Amino acid sequence: MGGVGEPAIVTEAVLTLMRCLKVPVQAHQAHKENGMVRVPFSRPLALRPAARAAALAVGLLASAAASAAPSVWVSVGSDAYRLLRMAGAGLEQVEMHRVPVQVPAEAGGLKTQQETLYLMRVDEAALPRLSSEVHERLKRCGGYVVHASREDGRQALARFRQTPVQPEAVSYKVDDEAEVNALLPQLQESQIRSTILNLSTAYKNRYYTTTGGVGASDDLVQTWKALAAGRDDVTVKRFDHPGWPQNSVVMTIRGTTKPKEIVVIGGHLDSTIGFTNENSIAPGADDDASGVASLQEVARVLLHSGYQPRRTIQFMAYAAEEVGLRGSAEIAADYQARGKKVVGVLQLDMTNYQGSSSDITLITDYTHAAQNDFLQKLARRYLPELTVNLSACGYACSDHASWTNRGFVASFPFEAPMGLHNPFIHTAQDTLAQSGDTASHALKFSRLALAYAVELGSDGPEPAPTPARLARR
Ligand code: BES
Ligand code: ZN
Repeated sequence: MGGVGEPAIVTEAVLTLMRCLKVPVQAHQAHKENGMVRVPFSRPLALRPAARAAALAVGLLASAAASAAPSVWVSVGSDAYRLLRMAGAGLEQVEMHRVPVQVPAEAGGLKTQQETLYLMRVDEAALPRLSSEVHERLKRCGGYVVHASREDGRQALARFRQTPVQPEAVSYKVDDEAEVNALLPQLQESQIRSTILNLSTAYKNRYYTTTGGVGASDDLVQTWKALAAGRDDVTVKRFDHPGWPQNSVVMTIRGTTKPKEIVVIGGHLDSTIGFTNENSIAPGADDDASGVASLQEVARVLLHSGYQPRRTIQFMAYAAEEVGLRGSAEIAADYQARGKKVVGVLQLDMTNYQGSSSDITLITDYTHAAQNDFLQKLARRYLPELTVNLSACGYACSDHASWTNRGFVASFPFEAPMGLHNPFIHTAQDTLAQSGDTASHALKFSRLALAYAVELGSDGPEPAPTPARLARR
């Protein structure tokens, strides 16, 4: 393997990531990380596949040696596991778990497929490189999920074997038409657009460890508090994560008659370009400023209209999604531990790039089939002009999986069928310009999310107004 362990090889992994995303590669600034200098290149290096595996191996080992990084428990799919094995990446205590996932069937509808997931301990420093290798070789993003412990990982994988039961209390009947139809026209594309623009340009990046990542979280708390002004039934709180500086942010509209039952609408606040540091340019306009902007617009309209749900509705901007769903994993674990009754979760991650003629794609794996059907019903009723189709992510690709892991009912409406989604994510080119400087696609997701929030939040037509209700408005 002589020679391939030069610092240049490490940089090549970054270029590889960009090339696999079909981004024109420009000169990058050299920077230092883990004591190794990254050398700038203006063009990708061509490595043969075998050399590539060797490069990964040496890179992994080099970074393990250079930093006494702690090891973490992760689960990965079998393809990503093969890459790690080939790389000889010091995997410890590997366990194999079979889980059923639902994927679209050719003939329409769904079929169940068995997937093998691996739970193991790896050096934390190896993880960014794993992501970029998966990008290159498997033509997809990602795929490792971080678990707090071995037991935690085992429980999560065991969960995937069971379909979460639909909470008894919930009805998937579409019966709040007056309220939903009054609110839908209030959603504004321009609001979503300006939120995406602000999140993607006000900071160099929103990575979970950087100044920008922390600043974005602090600013979001202020923005959401301003939205909630004048509503004493609304709180905005930070969810602190002891392991890293970026907070998740949670806005709560307290339910009037069933405050203990919670509807969650979330997206992730952090952004990445893979090897991200303080000065990396990671605008994350689509991934996932778009999701946060889409759900913030729902919140704005619900709050300003004076809408009061029967159930509690929580809006969440998760920290640290890009590094193994860590923020949402901690929140879902906390909610499970406290026995909180979350009746449904909606994840908005990448809503603003229309990669096909389909408007909304419902992700079928690691989500809840009955709630997905409910979303289709909502779309047919309230957004009949939109086309909805099904697609599988192929792995636990976003925060919905953290909730599914803990036995909650979660869905993930996505911008395009898998493979036709925004090719610029995780690069410096993930800007609003890639979506034609408009948020018109994201608006469709706000509309679906608003229908979901009200139909589950009220779960039945508005009762006749009482004097007390009127006084509260
Ligand atoms: N938004 C992506 C997930 C995604 C990308 C879904 C492309 C569908 C198509 C998300 O932010 C992400 O990048 N997730 C990680 C996985 C996670 C477990 C770290 C990824 O895919 O690398
Ligand atoms: Zn994302």
